Amino acid sequence: MDRKEFLSLLGLGSASLLATACLGGCSKSANSPSSGTNIDFTLNLSDAANAALATNGGVVYKNGVIIARTNTGNYIAVSSACTHEGTQVVYQATNQRFFCGNHGATFSEAGTVTNGPATKALTQYKTALSGNSLRIYS
Ligand code: FES
Repeated sequence: MDRKEFLSLLGLGSASLLATACLGGCSKSANSPSSGTNIDFTLNLSDAANAALATNGGVVYKNGVIIARTNTGNYIAVSSACTHEGTQVVYQATNQRFFCGNHGATFSEAGTVTNGPATKALTQYKTALSGNSLRIYS
């Protein structure tokens, strides 16, 4: 093998290594520090497991997301783990907010911090209702 052949093989090897590494994690989401940003699932509102969403103020937890029905009947969804230390938040329809009982952080219905000690917002997800299917997605 001469020098040119060797360098050619080396170049191919490096490219292969990069390609292999990228298959596992070159997308933006894979490098994102917060997990759960790629959310896309659908709830069948006819299922008993989702019956709470038939009532204003009701909630369902699924896939790390809290889905709530507001006092005005709209569906909202945010990540369910408090950004302070990960405790599951609850929805308080009367106060129109999410609340973490661990240290008292509160978040708006859009997930924005309204009271610490949390400093980072909950991730807000989109919702789309079609018949009895409620899609939650990012
Ligand atoms: S874990 Fe939620 S406020 Fe501390």
